Amino acid sequence: MKTIWDKLEKPIFILAPMEDVTDTVFRRIISSCGRPNLYFTEFTNVDGLASKGDKVVSQRILYTKEEKPLIAQIWGMKPENYFKAAQRLVDMGYDGIDINMGCPQRTVTRHGACSALIKNHSLAKEIIQATKEGAKGLPVSVKTRIGFNKIVLDEWIGFLLDQDLPALTIHGRTAAEMSKVPAHWDEIGKAVEIRNAKKLKTLIIGNGDVKSLNEAKEKAKQYKLDGIMIGRGIFENPWLFHPKTAIETITVKDRIELLKNHVDLYVQTWGKNKNFQILKKYFKIYIANFEGAHELRTQLMETTNQEEVDKILQQYESKIK
Ligand SMILES: Cc1cc2nc3c(=O)[nH]c(=O)nc-3n(C[C@H](O)[C@H](O)[C@H](O)COP(=O)(O)O)c2cc1C
Repeated sequence: MKTIWDKLEKPIFILAPMEDVTDTVFRRIISSCGRPNLYFTEFTNVDGLASKGDKVVSQRILYTKEEKPLIAQIWGMKPENYFKAAQRLVDMGYDGIDINMGCPQRTVTRHGACSALIKNHSLAKEIIQATKEGAKGLPVSVKTRIGFNKIVLDEWIGFLLDQDLPALTIHGRTAAEMSKVPAHWDEIGKAVEIRNAKKLKTLIIGNGDVKSLNEAKEKAKQYKLDGIMIGRGIFENPWLFHPKTAIETITVKDRIELLKNHVDLYVQTWGKNKNFQILKKYFKIYIANFEGAHELRTQLMETTNQEEVDKILQQYESKIK
């Protein structure tokens, strides 16, 4: 059976999963600017999903059809909860499931999850197996890094490639490197060679520091990749995935409109279920790169609800007319 990974034209351009950023609201806002070929959810804890208090965790897997095709990214410790989560994600209509084996945060690695799995092949294998069993044919992919404390490409990427995965996203840094050094794209290129030597079909998606669609196309060509995933680049340019919109053509009014839409959709979607404060991290994305942006942002940071945001934006717009 053909999966989303087979169906998408290559190279595939993907918006990276980013916790507390790429929720259903942000994905819809990005769709209004320029769609990537594929979205991922924020990473979602399977042990949390299986617990009684799963309501908050479940917010992370909420989506609308505007965000399709969409892959749910999961993490956790217990293989049986991966199995249950996979069953639920199949029922929810996801296009695929991705397992996070890359997050370097101490809060998750100290339990042995995410990038700590780089040091625990047997649990990684069990988790992949349990997820596949629950996924009933829905594709199960992995996103990872090139090592934990040091680069262990042959050992780790070689191991993952032997798990019969449809796709493998490689963030070109070790967990210890966090995001502090430039991504090692040459290592991502070597992963493609390992895949080719094994004569496998697993798609390799490169990730790390890409800031534009042009750069993504160049990297895909240079390293013979099947796709490129972009994360933080979207903070500098929400129109990044639009093939023709140059950031220089975006006006202050466009930016303000986008922020208004985001606040509106956020309040409609989350109401009181998510704190208004979380919304503030997005102000920097939209209200940036124009004269007076800093002052406007400072004012916006003082707000506590949608009405206050709208009022400040209206006042500002009347001045620039
Ligand atoms: C705020 C933030 C949250 C992130 N959350 C996740 C996550 O939930 N799952 C994941 O696999 N990676 C996560 N990442 C890592 C990104 O997906 C990506 O691998 C990393 O930022 C490198 O790509 P970039 O240089 O294009 O941003 C996160 C990164 C950032 C900056």
